[in-house]
Amino acid sequence: MEGPGARAAEALRDALAAVRGARSLAGLREAEIAALGRKAPLSLLKRQLGSAPPADRPGMGRILNEAREAIEAALSARREELEATEESAALEAERVDVTLPGRSRLPGSPHPIALMLERLCEVFAGLGYRVAEGPEVETDWYNFESLNMPPDHPARSMWDTLYVDPSGGRDATLLRTHTSPVQIRTMLAQPPPVFIVAPGRVYRRDAFDASHSPVFHQLEGLAVGRGITFGDLKGTLDAFAKAVFGPEAAVRLRPSYFPFTEPSAEVDVICVTCGGRGCAACGRSGWIEIMGAGMVHPNVLRAVGYNPERVSGFAFGMGVERIAMRAWEIPDIRMLFENDLRFLARFRG
Ligand code: PHE
Repeated sequence: MEGPGARAAEALRDALAAVRGARSLAGLREAEIAALGRKAPLSLLKRQLGSAPPADRPGMGRILNEAREAIEAALSARREELEATEESAALEAERVDVTLPGRSRLPGSPHPIALMLERLCEVFAGLGYRVAEGPEVETDWYNFESLNMPPDHPARSMWDTLYVDPSGGRDATLLRTHTSPVQIRTMLAQPPPVFIVAPGRVYRRDAFDASHSPVFHQLEGLAVGRGITFGDLKGTLDAFAKAVFGPEAAVRLRPSYFPFTEPSAEVDVICVTCGGRGCAACGRSGWIEIMGAGMVHPNVLRAVGYNPERVSGFAFGMGVERIAMRAWEIPDIRMLFENDLRFLARFRG
């Protein structure tokens, strides 16, 4: 059977199939336009109604209206279904289980080096010292020459470093090998008396092993004024050792050499593990080396315009990692740089 009736029936079948088969609200809107829009077969048939034989028009009109009603009913039924599923999908996707345990934020804690630096600065603040700082990229003059190490001085090999600008000369830049340049910067900036400690990071051309790191921290001390003696140095170091390692701690000074101090000493603190009897921690010696020290060399005082006939002073420089390792029995310096949270959590408040 051909003709408008058959075409209307076919259009209705297609439209109902498209509406019922729509998988989303967007798909349903497309089906609606295809079924009822201006270009839909049913709309076309409706426009053609005027040119149909007058006797056929009422019957045809009724068929078209019924088809339209059937499609609209199917559309609203399908819309309800799809709205329900899309809503429950959205609810599912956005679901929050308020009964889940909360994600606790790991509280941070100061790094042991930061803790020890703070503690050391506090001890010296109590003795009347102020904290001074300087740059990590230094010039040759501040790191070596002003500290009584002219170019080609053999002692420079004790502090081999990384050069930022290897051209040479007093303004060549390098990574500072010690905090001693802060002595120079401070003395150039003020007249005596000077009482400072300088905490900070230093660099050396060293391999990374259990007791060495190419980057580490020092705390420098400098006291310059009238009549300051080696006895003052020893008393200061003794007070420092007792404050950090406990009232039983004692220090011992051994003759040594630094270009910027004369006389110079290596400073040992009594081993806290064995109380000086000798154990594995101190290599059986009973003592642990923690710093270098000495009386400020007259050439250093001259380099900053101080008069060595009128003022004298002492200086010391300690390795902060070494002291932290002693104080907290840390067996390997690398643990201080690996940022393993299991290790760092030991130092939480
Ligand atoms: N600057 C020396 C070093 O890094 C330590 C030191 C400081 C020694 C001050 C004496 C006086 O080895």
